[in-house]
Amino acid sequence: MNNGEIVCKDLYKIYNAGMPTECRAVNGVNITIGMGEHTSLIGPSGSGKSTLLNLISCLDSPTKGDVYIEGVGISGLSGLEKAKLRREKLGFIFQQFNLIPTMTAAENIELPMRFRGTGGAERKKKVAELMNLVELEGKENNRPSELSGGQQQRVAIARALANNPQIILADEPTGALDQKTGETIMDLLRKLNKEENKTLVIVTHDPKIAKTAPRTIKIVDGKIH
Ligand SMILES: Nc1ncnc2c1ncn2[C@@H]1O[C@H](COP(=O)(O)OP(=O)(O)OP(=O)(O)O)[C@@H](O)[C@H]1O
Ligand SMILES: [Mg+2]
Repeated sequence: MNNGEIVCKDLYKIYNAGMPTECRAVNGVNITIGMGEHTSLIGPSGSGKSTLLNLISCLDSPTKGDVYIEGVGISGLSGLEKAKLRREKLGFIFQQFNLIPTMTAAENIELPMRFRGTGGAERKKKVAELMNLVELEGKENNRPSELSGGQQQRVAIARALANNPQIILADEPTGALDQKTGETIMDLLRKLNKEENKTLVIVTHDPKIAKTAPRTIKIVDGKIH
């Protein structure tokens, strides 16, 4: 019964350990983010927000400690097992969208389903459903360069949702957007949290955005405050 739960236990990420340039980007973090929780992750530039989110999303490995996704410790997983967990349980949204420029909106959204081995008919149906959810009908065949920033981020959200993950992690998802467009992106993310009970962790610099989450986690110098 721990669907969508994230636990960080005694978590460290130390760069250049033991050297004069040592940097404790994540310095002994213990947090539990419950199923369906909406949490903002805030802190000054360089405080470890992206590092922590990358550890939670298995994009990076901790120096010490572990992250448990739905009760499973990720440090014990093989590369393939981590890839499977990422594909099936986690949706990640980046500040700079990170779409594949040579692929259309529909192909970008379809890609995680291809990696998972989902059949063609089902992929097509899901792409249509997701294009509708993010209100981008008619833009299926546009490449990222033929979309506005907000539209690109909506494609990225649809892509993150393609395999129906229970957990959505976003690193400054509105950072590259103007305020109004950022608000529509946040509305969409909040809707996913409210209506589908998805666990939502959002890194943000913007106090206004942080305030809209019921819970805020603050990190300073790699430690939770
Ligand atoms: N590969 C690396 N090697 C050495 N130090 C690193 C590396 N990656 C990050 N750091 C350091 O880790 C610290 C935390 O960086 P991180 O990117 O997590 O900060 P952040 O809170 O996301 O900042 P911002 O708000 O500017 O995005 C910084 O001091 C950074 O210089
Ligand atoms: Mg960052």
